[in-house]
Amino acid sequence: MKANTAEKWIEQRIRKYGPISKLSLFGKPTVFVYGPAANKFVFNGDSSTIANQQPKSIRMILGDRCLVELSGQDHKRVRDALVSFLKPESLKKYLETIDGEIREHLKLHWHGKEHVTVLPLMKTLTFNIICSLLFGLRRGAERDQFVSNFETMLAGMWSVPVNLPFTRYNGSLKASAIVQNMLKDLIQEKKKKLEYKTASPHQDLITCLLSIRDENGQEVITEKEIVHNVMLVMVAGHDTSSVLITFLIRLLAKDPAVYAAVLQEQEEIAKGKSMGEFLTWEDLTKMKYTWRVAMETLRMIPPVFGGFRKTLKASNSNSFLSIIAWLSLADVLLIHFQIFWDTNMTHMDDSIFPEPSKFDHSRFENQSSIPPYCYLPFGAGYRICPGYEFARIETLLVIHRLVTQFTWKLQCSDNAFSRDPIPVPTKGLPIQIVPKNLQ
Ligand code: HEM
Repeated sequence: MKANTAEKWIEQRIRKYGPISKLSLFGKPTVFVYGPAANKFVFNGDSSTIANQQPKSIRMILGDRCLVELSGQDHKRVRDALVSFLKPESLKKYLETIDGEIREHLKLHWHGKEHVTVLPLMKTLTFNIICSLLFGLRRGAERDQFVSNFETMLAGMWSVPVNLPFTRYNGSLKASAIVQNMLKDLIQEKKKKLEYKTASPHQDLITCLLSIRDENGQEVITEKEIVHNVMLVMVAGHDTSSVLITFLIRLLAKDPAVYAAVLQEQEEIAKGKSMGEFLTWEDLTKMKYTWRVAMETLRMIPPVFGGFRKTLKASNSNSFLSIIAWLSLADVLLIHFQIFWDTNMTHMDDSIFPEPSKFDHSRFENQSSIPPYCYLPFGAGYRICPGYEFARIETLLVIHRLVTQFTWKLQCSDNAFSRDPIPVPTKGLPIQIVPKNLQ
């Protein structure tokens, strides 16, 4: 995975065995699937037949009540609560907060510098946006303590779950316990503030989740669920968006025609604004070209390579039957197997996206022409990423501020990246920057 050989290995498998094949992964019988029909089965399968499957390390670190561990009614209840905060109508209220964080970040980490390394900086930025928006944590000692524990927690998320002293996994578990305690304290603080009406339900994700009530006035989501899901959102929303923005910055430096068109769109918006004015929802609706470029970047370099599901019982759907046709009788009788779905192979299928290795943002001019279950950077079906709108907003706002304030040149101009398991460009993408008012 690290040397980015995973894509090639999968490609070879498909050439040899076709779109469905059986293998053993992490010691478990696994069926690898790809293509629209298999994707439909994976993403829309009935929750009594198919469930999400995460490595044990994720469950131990993020907790057993986080969304990716839940299924059926529990999944729907917790997901609805998260979506009530992450939906566009709700996020509209926080544009100034996000834009403010971006401007502050550029002032601190970009202005006055000649060289920066993009990926670590974008991780800092997306983490800071999450901290202020989801927990209402402003800059300062409390946020810094959060960051350092969070980074230790992340480091062991994909490691072998053997809890021995001094291993990454052991460090992650300890950091997870500290983060959970910090969140519990934060929740108590916010509960009091809500009670004394010194905080509003719309202040941040935690106050929003604490305030949701059912028809009988009872809390819909427990404190444990708030802690586990806030940790999930921190992890799910931080690496993914920072990777998308990083690869967009690389693309803009390598493709002068795309850069010129993005710049024109963003300068047109900047012209209508006075000094220091925040961007608005209406401004975002004008950034259509920039978002198409982002969508094509996500097609070619999806931050999430794929994922796992597990079968719970047999189903008589055609796709299920075609999958078990590939298994041995013993597997069929057991009927519990792991499914590994892959984004990249579907995105690189030339029957879906002609000339798939060519960067062509015009594929997204008419999005309804893309068949269902073929464009999967955010997944699909009832587990489709609930952070899509959040990612779109922060990506567009960052690109606007960058192209209107800086020009940049790559210091490593290769097209390579490794996976960790998210894509990482060579050396984290070092660039040389020049602020525009100095040109
Ligand atoms: C470019 C940015 C992002 C990408 C490419 C991305 C991609 C994905 C993918 C592929 C899934 C798995 C879907 C599945 O298993 O079927 C997912 C799930 C999820 N994402 Fe994102 N994501 C991004 C940003 C975000 C952000 C910003 C947040 C939160 C603020 C977020 C929160 C989540 C959550 C909570 C889930 C679990 C959903 C569930 O199991 O129901 N993501 N994301």
